[in-house]
Amino acid sequence: MSNVYAKTVSINSPDNKIQVILSDKNGQPEYSVNFNGNNVVSSSRLGLVFEQQGEFGNGFNIIDSSKTSSSSRWQQPWGEREWIEDNHNKLTSSFSDGTYRFTIEFKAFDDGIGFRYTVPKQTALADTASLNITNELTEFSVPDAHNATAWWIPGRGWNRYEYLYNTTSLNKVDRAHTPFTYKLKSGTHLSIHEAALTDYAAMVLDQRRDGTLKADLTPWSDGTLVKTKPGVSTPWRTIQISEQATGLLNSDLILNLNEPNKLGDVSWVEPGKYVGIWWGMHLNENTWGSGDKHGATTSETKRYMDFAATYGFDGVLVEGWNIGWDGSWFHNGDVFSFTQPYDDFDIDAVSEYSAKQNVRLIGHHETSGSVSNYRNQMSDAYDLYKKHGVTQIKTGYVADGGDIKRVDENGITRHEWHDGQFMVNEYLYSVTEAAKRGISINTHEPVKDTGLRRTYPNWIAREGARGQEFNAWGTPPNNPEHTAILPYTRMLSGPMDFTPGIFDLAPKGLDAVNRVQTTLTKQLALYVVLYSPIQMAADLPRNYVERLDAFQFIQDVPTDWSESIAVAGEIGDFVAFARKDRASEDWYLGALTDENARKLDIKLDFLSPDKQYQAQIYRDGDKANWETNPYDYVIETKTVTAKDKLTLSLATSGGTAIRFKAI
Ligand code: NOJ
Ligand code: CA
Repeated sequence: MSNVYAKTVSINSPDNKIQVILSDKNGQPEYSVNFNGNNVVSSSRLGLVFEQQGEFGNGFNIIDSSKTSSSSRWQQPWGEREWIEDNHNKLTSSFSDGTYRFTIEFKAFDDGIGFRYTVPKQTALADTASLNITNELTEFSVPDAHNATAWWIPGRGWNRYEYLYNTTSLNKVDRAHTPFTYKLKSGTHLSIHEAALTDYAAMVLDQRRDGTLKADLTPWSDGTLVKTKPGVSTPWRTIQISEQATGLLNSDLILNLNEPNKLGDVSWVEPGKYVGIWWGMHLNENTWGSGDKHGATTSETKRYMDFAATYGFDGVLVEGWNIGWDGSWFHNGDVFSFTQPYDDFDIDAVSEYSAKQNVRLIGHHETSGSVSNYRNQMSDAYDLYKKHGVTQIKTGYVADGGDIKRVDENGITRHEWHDGQFMVNEYLYSVTEAAKRGISINTHEPVKDTGLRRTYPNWIAREGARGQEFNAWGTPPNNPEHTAILPYTRMLSGPMDFTPGIFDLAPKGLDAVNRVQTTLTKQLALYVVLYSPIQMAADLPRNYVERLDAFQFIQDVPTDWSESIAVAGEIGDFVAFARKDRASEDWYLGALTDENARKLDIKLDFLSPDKQYQAQIYRDGDKANWETNPYDYVIETKTVTAKDKLTLSLATSGGTAIRFKAI
């Protein structure tokens, strides 16, 4: 349909640096974005295609638009900062082709933009009509893609989100997961992601012509992308925009585009630190299954509870306590029982001991992707844990991408993706069922985070990237730059249960392929750099007892913050975060580097101007390097104030961790 009356509407961010332009000028909805007067997203298509109703895009014109502004702040029950500012301008435009109608809402913040589609109930559509999406037309067009650099992992791969990052020119990307982070030649940093992914398929990005990244929704097993009804709103499509790399890290855009807490009083959601029967299995010293090397025994659990009590940890994770691990557990998810312990794990005795030691038992449910088996037992399994005082469960969905097994309502077995609409709903179901019992969920092999912790604060953490476990058996293990890329990519989506703190960096020798490719103090820095309200001290107790001086930092570091500031960083090279403890006046700093040693000058102006601090510094020794000398570290103290500056010396794949204790 030709469109002689093309309309163009626009909004700016509150600081006027970002401008979003929406139009129907080429006979279809499209948008573009400018930043500081330069085009950073060129004309990009918008629209949805439905199985029965056809395309809501081409041939649709803007029929009305309205603008509002809003400025507020809200409090996080736990988080990387206590108060979050939400200042934005909003544009809502309705489109119609004369028969059907849909709206697009844009919100412009100082740190980026978000937009979403709504298909309201309308006379042309029965309220119960099926609106099955067969294509989302949304594009993100990157100008001068050959000269932009992207940090990305493949989308729709067999290993879900667990890949090392590629660093390439943007036009070399094929299909990538979000958060998808890139830097234009001008130096502007951007990251494309989504917020509030519920009852919809995850958006992967597919590069069409060079620089044109198109929404590629993960399908159901029957090929449909999303099954909805009139009244549907899509998740927010988000673009974080900043001059500095650190600007991406200091952005609250994703959380601001999520709905407020729906769970009411969530004081029962407890941040904290834990140890667990875990690394021994990854190192092959123990087994999840029964036998001589069974890790999850009553006596071993008590030993870990003693260790946790002595050193001030809140919980002990126990993996391999329940029947079903024997044989090839990766492929036999249907035989897991979530209520029946192995004979050598006495759950009553363990929970009594947990009460006595004042250390919580942390639950574990590995489903191996057999989600119907899990669903059938879920209420009994959560009830059992509740009865035993468990307030946090780590869940697992180990299965190849596309291989989640479910049995449908007709008894037919189907295989789904971890990030399709079916699993998006399944993960959230586990979280809301757990919430009814005062239990928090830490999902491994999850769907990516899109900020739902704001709405469901008991969704306390997840994996969703290569974590520490890859250092035990991954081919290859995580490289030195991995944790210098994660903050700018995966971590933009929310907390990660990375499980830092390995002290025996090379159990099979420094030359072994499988070892941790960092220095020891970089392991300490991870507690501050990789935000999570729950942090594991992942190594075996004996390795901590050997280095109690360095272990002190893990004992001291909090997991709940009143402020967080990324103070330095470049993607893939280095990063430094300063965070303030929510429970005291102390600040902490974590800085880490990739394979290159470097010096970082850090101004301490984040400290309170009227206080003195004792800086307890854990740093790489002068001869440290990750390959041959990773245990060379120095612990020293200095008295500092907000007027001081520290020069940090980071070894190759090294790090510095500092506690600023208010005097
Ligand atoms: C994968 C998880 O990421 C890991 O932490 C866990 O130990 C295994 N699954 C077994 O559940
Ligand atoms: Ca995993």
